[in-house]
This record gives sequence, C-alpha cells and structure tokens, in this order.
Amino acid sequence: MVGVTETWQVEPSGPLRGDIQVRGSKNAVTKHMVAAMLGDGPSTIRNAPEVGDVDITAAMLEAIGFQVSRSGGDVTVAPTGPVSGSTVSASTVQPRVPEAFTGLNRIPILMIGPLLHRTGEAFVPLVGGDPIGRRPVDFHVAALRALGAKVEAGPAGIAARASRLYGARIDLPYPSVGATETVLLSAVLAEGKTVLRNAATEPEVVELALFLQRMGAHIELSPDRRIVIEGVPRLRGASRWLAGDRLEAFSYLVAGLITRGEVRVHGCPQDRLVTAITTLAKMGAQIDITDEWITASAPSGLRAAAVHTDTHPGFMTDWQQPLMVLFTQAEGMSVLHETVFENRLVYVPALKEMGCEIETFAACLGGTACRFHDTNSVHSAVIRGVSKLRGADVTLPDVRAGFSAVLAAAVADRPSVLRGIHHIERGYHRPFEQFASLGLTIRRG
Ligand code: EPU
Repeated sequence: MVGVTETWQVEPSGPLRGDIQVRGSKNAVTKHMVAAMLGDGPSTIRNAPEVGDVDITAAMLEAIGFQVSRSGGDVTVAPTGPVSGSTVSASTVQPRVPEAFTGLNRIPILMIGPLLHRTGEAFVPLVGGDPIGRRPVDFHVAALRALGAKVEAGPAGIAARASRLYGARIDLPYPSVGATETVLLSAVLAEGKTVLRNAATEPEVVELALFLQRMGAHIELSPDRRIVIEGVPRLRGASRWLAGDRLEAFSYLVAGLITRGEVRVHGCPQDRLVTAITTLAKMGAQIDITDEWITASAPSGLRAAAVHTDTHPGFMTDWQQPLMVLFTQAEGMSVLHETVFENRLVYVPALKEMGCEIETFAACLGGTACRFHDTNSVHSAVIRGVSKLRGADVTLPDVRAGFSAVLAAAVADRPSVLRGIHHIERGYHRPFEQFASLGLTIRRG
C-alpha cells in the first residue's frame, strides 16, 4: 500500500489502448475474508486484487487472532491456536477490533456477527470509507438486535453481546449491501430460520452467499429480494475464485473511450455489466463482447445521455464518477441523478478545477423522484460536453473520484498533479502499472 502523501504526475497521452485483466473486486474480497472468520479451518479466496482494503482487512484480522497469508492472487485466512479434531478453540479470537482501525474502511461493522459467534462479545471501532454521505449503520444495528444481540453504540465504536444468536424476520428499509451482508454473516450460525426482506442483490452479495454455502451454510435466494437462511451449528473453511470487478472493468472501458482509444477488458462476466454496456451503447459507443473480453470504442464520437444510479441491476453508483468525466467529452448536455448515496457528488469541485463544466443541484433531475427528493442533498448534475479540460494540481477525495481525475488528466491540455493516490490504490488493482501499460504517461511524484 502506498503512503498517503503519494502523488502522480499525469500527462495527456493520446489514445489509451491495450488489454486489462481485472481481478476480483475489493467489495467482494474483504467480505469473504470476514466470512472466513466463521470457518473451523482455513479459507482461501482466489483471484483477489492487490488493494489497500485487503491490507487493512488483513491487519484487522491478524489483530484479533487470525492468520492471513497471501501468495499471488490467493488470500488465505486461518484461525490460529489449539485445534481439537477439525475445530479451533474459540478462545484464541480476541473480541475487540483495535481502535487504531477507526475510520479506515467499512469492514469492522461486518465483523460483529462472526465475533459474537466466536466469543459471545464484540467491539468494533467506527467505520469509515469514502466521504459520500452520512453512511449510518442503523440497519446493521437493528438487524443484530433482531437476531438477539445486545448492541450499544458509543463514541468510539459499537459494542455487542450475545451468548447465542437466534433466527428472526428482518425487513430492511432500503436494500443495503452492507446490512444484507451483516445479516448473512450473522444468521448462518444462528439458531433457527432468518427471513430477510428487501435484501440487496448486488453480484458481490450473491458471491458472499455462494461462499458461505461452500462453507456449509443453508441459504436460499428467493425472488423479490428475499433471502432465507437456516442456521447450522458449524461451518468449515472453503475456497472460492472471485469473478472480475465490474467497477474496474467499466472504469477501464471508459479510459479507452474518453481518449478515443480502445481498452479490451478481460475477466469480468458480461452479466455484471449489462446496464453499463447498454448506457455506453446508447451514447454511441461500439461495444464488442466475447466470452473472454469486452471492448468499447467510439470512432464517430459520443452523445449526451440522462442516467440515474440505482441498486442492482440498475446503473451502479460506483460507475457514475467515470461516466461523469465521459459526459464532459460527449456532444451535448447530460444529466446524472445519484439515488443511492446522498452526497456522492462531493468530488465535482476537483473535476471543475480541471475544466469540467458541471452544475450540481439539490433536486431529482432527469427522471423520477428518489428518497432524497425532500432533502437538501445535492445529488443531481448537469454536464456540458464537449468541454476542453485543463491540467491542474488536485487532491483526490475518494477512490472512484480519484480514478475519474486520472481520466480527466489523460485528456487535459497539459500535465496534472494528482494528490492522495492512496484512495485509488485502496480499491483498484495496481492502477499505476495498468494505466502505464495502456500508454498513459504517468510518473510517481
Ligand atoms: N444505509 C443506511 N443505514 C445503514 C446502511 C445503509 O441508511 O445501516 C443507506 C446508506 O446511507 C446509503 C444506502 O443505504 O444511502 C446504501 O448503502 P449500502 O449499505 O448499500 O452501501 P455500503 O454497504 O456502505 C457498498 C460498497 C460501496 C457501494 C455500495 C452500493 C463496500 C465496502 N462498499 O457500500 O462501494 O457503492 O455498497 O453498491 O462494499 C466503493 O467501492 O467505492 C464503494 C463506496
């Protein structure tokens, strides 16, 4: 992982071309690492990306008594301590995730269920992640309470106790990815049946459910966002190959399009990109798809579009930042309506410094009203294209916005200095090497 002061100098470099092999996603690998806490033996996650979030999650697991080893794309998480038969003594696991991990990522809250199963108690520090809204954890806390845990939220973190968790009926007010994962990770070893309604169905959530099933969990994915989990007494270690990251795949397809080049992305199944591909095609991109790879090119330019982000299978919120920069290079006025996070346009000022012509609004533009309709949340944008972008010295606010700033720098009129590169490296596999391989002139500062 790079230091927080690292900068990149990026020069406008002409069309980006080449092949990118994407690995599993940061938002799947870290959750699998937490699931591995539930197994009696070691679990291996394969095709894992080398990203900062894996480093952070590995350090947390080691701090509470698990052994984490990495080799190539494999991450193995193993319980440590005395083993009797195939079962590891629960006493080797520490229930407190140290406060030193406060604010580093979103993973600690997911550890509460596994820690309760292992030790009967848990303390996790306040979660962090990108500054893209209030990002409360009330759904997680309510779900854990429904499963029988006593949960107290304090200024330093969340403490929980439960000698046993019990199956429950849980209705999520919104299909939250994280809260669905909390329920999965807690209900699989609870006593009895849990019925979760309004669950998230993102591919990364389904991947986690499949991994838990390999560990021995009884999970049914029903229609209408319903997940039924029958608790089992124990889970074993398992191994799983992660499918390619759909955020990374989309980001590199856009890198080719925006520079009038063509990037061929390998390793991400088409069914993870359906809405993204259709959006790019409607903008005039030529898309070619085989069983192995996907490419996008725009020989005769791109036109504007109106897009709103949504839960799966809609246009995902993590795709909107590369799309925003692409809109600046498409002919006409585009509209972007963010409906998942209330504050996910915070990166727009950085793009404006680079010449992007973007106006933001506290309104639902370009379509139906979302749940932020009656709030002051600035969650819509109008983007003018084609804009002439300029090189600038900017500080990156978060992981996806960071990648977008690189895209803007690639088509700017002069070199840019991008600060806070650790944000990009927290979520993308070796982005420096990937961009350099596509022909971007880039130097570490
Ligand atoms: N929400 C609540 N209360 C909760 C939980 C969520 O009000 O207890 C709200 C959130 O504030 C948000 C909405 O529900 O408005 C959806 O949040 P969700 O829980 O689905 O998001 P998350 O689990 O915190 C994950 C990814 C995000 C991705 C979203 C949506 C991880 C670590 N993060 O976040 O990824 O955007 O799902 O798909 O898995 C990223 O990788 O850059 C990133 C931010």
